[in-house]
Amino acid sequence: MQPTVLHDPAAFRARCEQHRRAGHRVGFVPTMGALHEGHLTLAREARRRVGPHGLVAVSIFVNPTQFGPNEDFSRYPRELDADVARCATAGVDVVFAPAADAMYPPGDQTRVRVPGVAEPFCGPFRPGHFEGVATVVTRLFALAGECVAVFGRKDYQQWRLLDRMARDLLLPVEVVGHATVREPDGLAMSSRNRYLSPDDRARARVVPEALTLAVNAWARGERSVEALRAMTEAHLRTRVDSLDYADLREPTDLGPLPAVLAHDDRAVLAVAARIGATRLIDNVVLGEEPAPISS
Ligand code: PAJ
Repeated sequence: MQPTVLHDPAAFRARCEQHRRAGHRVGFVPTMGALHEGHLTLAREARRRVGPHGLVAVSIFVNPTQFGPNEDFSRYPRELDADVARCATAGVDVVFAPAADAMYPPGDQTRVRVPGVAEPFCGPFRPGHFEGVATVVTRLFALAGECVAVFGRKDYQQWRLLDRMARDLLLPVEVVGHATVREPDGLAMSSRNRYLSPDDRARARVVPEALTLAVNAWARGERSVEALRAMTEAHLRTRVDSLDYADLREPTDLGPLPAVLAHDDRAVLAVAARIGATRLIDNVVLGEEPAPISS
């Protein structure tokens, strides 16, 4: 079945409400489009959670407020027709694709910040990014209403931030994080991977390799945060064009960790690196997730 494409926020809100009134749940997957298997996996997870009669909605909106002045907002891929066709293959009922001035009405001023979770990892490298994400997702949640919203753990900091935000603002939204979907060589799927030249695409494997080194060290009993961080950084430093960070944090609200973890602790190891002109991010939760590259 082809999904219904809605551009008007009021029509999207009404469609979600109608479904709830009929006694069904709403599953919601916010995206910026250029959909790939990672996004479609989230849509299928939403379906699994709301059941065959639930409503699965995917929003497609390239949100201007989350891009920095030197980032890729203007060249971010926009391909609504192809995305709608992809959604059809994943059993999506509604594609919500608003215009910019529908999400940001004239005179718009309101912004949402989650300062603690936004502080580490990408925070310093993308000033204003998470404020843009929190602001647009608050608006999307205001339209969708009571729902289960599925996000990818690929963007781990974003997922934790939106979960914190939904709970802090008492929103009727259950925020769910789904495992990162990877290419056969371990690279996390991303709409930005298409920017990679064939050479750079081959080199990008160093990112999941670096995380795999740390997962394997963890499995051998390494619990020194600095040792885990340094081995990840050492693998990346000489192999990528620039490294923004390799860092470990507590997995819930991304607070700092003690120097040495207990055997059954968990920690999220996250990295951001540039290969060619493309910035790649990836992460793994040590003590919880398998290595990105299985041996
Ligand atoms: P976008 O980058 O399009 O991603 C939409 C959702 O897909 C996010 O939850 C992201 O984590 C998830 N995703 C992307 N690649 C994935 C992968 N390889 N495996 C699993 N999930 C993956 O993230 C955004 O859009 C925006 O910031 C948004 C939340 C829509 C706000 O504008």
